[in-house]
Amino acid sequence: MIGIFDSGIGGLTVAKQVIKRLPNCSLTYFGDTARLPYGTKGPEFVKKYSEKITEWLIQKNAKAIVIACHTSSAWAGDYLRKKFNIPIFDVLSSSVDKINFKKIGIIGTPGTIKSGAWERGILERNPSAKIYSKACPLFVPLAEEGIVSGIIAEKTAENYLKGLAKVDALVLACTHYPLLARVIRKTVGRQVKIIDPGVILAKDIEGAFVEREEKPSISIFFSDVPYNFGKISKSLKMESEITVKDPFYE
Ligand code: DGL
Repeated sequence: MIGIFDSGIGGLTVAKQVIKRLPNCSLTYFGDTARLPYGTKGPEFVKKYSEKITEWLIQKNAKAIVIACHTSSAWAGDYLRKKFNIPIFDVLSSSVDKINFKKIGIIGTPGTIKSGAWERGILERNPSAKIYSKACPLFVPLAEEGIVSGIIAEKTAENYLKGLAKVDALVLACTHYPLLARVIRKTVGRQVKIIDPGVILAKDIEGAFVEREEKPSISIFFSDVPYNFGKISKSLKMESEITVKDPFYE
């Protein structure tokens, strides 16, 4: 079984890609809706939460962990890999060496952008790249509200992205942003390659995780009743049963 976690429901965009690639693997998804958002919290909190969730997923028999949350990947990916002795994949480290463009835009939560992890990772392999980063915090509540098109979404995208330099590629470094991909595409134009690291991670894990099962199952847990779960799961066509369980209070 693969254990996958995020700060909330946004990580279902990543889970969906993993299920597509590994239909014969069981998956346990955990969304930490009780402590969401991670994107505006400091690294120590994000590490502590991510560690507890990883422990819990391992107790549930996870043989590999996928960190779907970009903020956790940025602050806690390496920390968790040092702490736990099972394969730990994350959206950042799976993708960072596969982005070979000259001018690259990175958009994410304030935490992800502040960590500088994307810039460091890209420049290590591609030192002549020019990186333009921008935190877009309002995209998360818009996606949660299901406001992914129309005037509010468009104006918000323009506000964040119109001033960004002309880039060749734009990385959606937040679980929620793929839900706004259409409006982001409309704002930046057709010539910009839009990169969803969830898609890259799913390809990565497909080659690395060999366990296959006859009767795979999907279990979805949240630490609090997820606001707007129905709307988002519907838009992702992932209408599974959910269980509310908080590993911090077990
Ligand atoms: N899941 C978070 C991320 O991808 C976005 C939501 C939050 O701020 O917790 O960074």
